[in-house]
Amino acid sequence: MTDSRDADATRLAAASLAQGDPTGWFERLYAAASEGAAVVPWDADEPNPLLVDWIERHERAGGGMRAMVVGCGLGRDAEHLAGLGFETTAFDVSETAIQTARERFPASTVNYQVADLLAPPAEWAGAFDLVVESITVQSLPVSVRAVATSNVARMVAAGGDLLVIAAIREEGVEVDGPPWPLTRAEIDAFAVGDLRSVRVEQVARPDKPGFARWRAVFQRS
Ligand SMILES: C[S@@+](CC[C@H](N)C(=O)[O-])C[C@H]1O[C@@H](n2cnc3c(N)ncnc32)[C@H](O)[C@@H]1O
Repeated sequence: MTDSRDADATRLAAASLAQGDPTGWFERLYAAASEGAAVVPWDADEPNPLLVDWIERHERAGGGMRAMVVGCGLGRDAEHLAGLGFETTAFDVSETAIQTARERFPASTVNYQVADLLAPPAEWAGAFDLVVESITVQSLPVSVRAVATSNVARMVAAGGDLLVIAAIREEGVEVDGPPWPLTRAEIDAFAVGDLRSVRVEQVARPDKPGFARWRAVFQRS
C-alpha cells in the first residue's frame, strides 16, 4: 500500500500483523472510518467495473440465483448483484463494515453477515450459484492463503460459478503486504476438486488504464 488513501490501513495492518493477528486490523480500520478518523482505501461509490462488465456478459445471471460476496466490505458489489435479481448473501470479518453496509443500504435485500473466511459457517458449503471473491484473499497473509482459497472454492454449488478478481504478482517476486497479490499458481489453486478453471485473464480496469487485475472464472460441474 503506497498512496495517502492507504496510510491508515498500512499503519493498522502493521500493528495487527506484528501481533500475529491477520484480520484484526480490518475492524479497527472500519471502526475508525465510521468515526471519520480513517480512510478505507477500497471504499468506492460504484461496484467494481470488472465485476459489472463480466456479469453483463454472463449467461447465467440473476433470476433468483444465489450469490455470495466474500469479504464484502461496504457492500457495493453485493448491492449490484442484488439489483440484478440475485438472492445475495455477503459477509465480512468486520462487524463495523457489515453495520455500515446495512446503514448505507437500508432497503437492501442483501443478507449481510459477520463471518470469517478462515472458518465460515458449514452450511455455506456448496450453497451458491455465483461466488464473487474480489481482493480479499490477497489481503490475508500468504500463511493462510491455502485455507482462504479452498474455503472460497467450497462455497460454489454444483453447476455454479466462481469469479475471482485480484492484483497480479509475478512468480518468485516477494512482497511485503498487505496486500499480497496473487501469482498465476495461486489463481489456479482455486480449481480444487470438480471446480474447473474456465478462463483466466489479465484485464485493465476501464476507469484506470494500465492498472491490470486477474479476472478468473471457475465452474463446478
Ligand atoms: C481489500 S478489502 C476488499 C473489499 C471488497 N471485496 C472490494 O472488492 O472492495 C478486503 C475485505 O475483506 C475483509 N476480510 C479480510 N479478511 C477476512 C476474513 N478472514 N473473512 C471475511 N472477511 C475478511 C475485510 O474486512 C475487507 O472488507
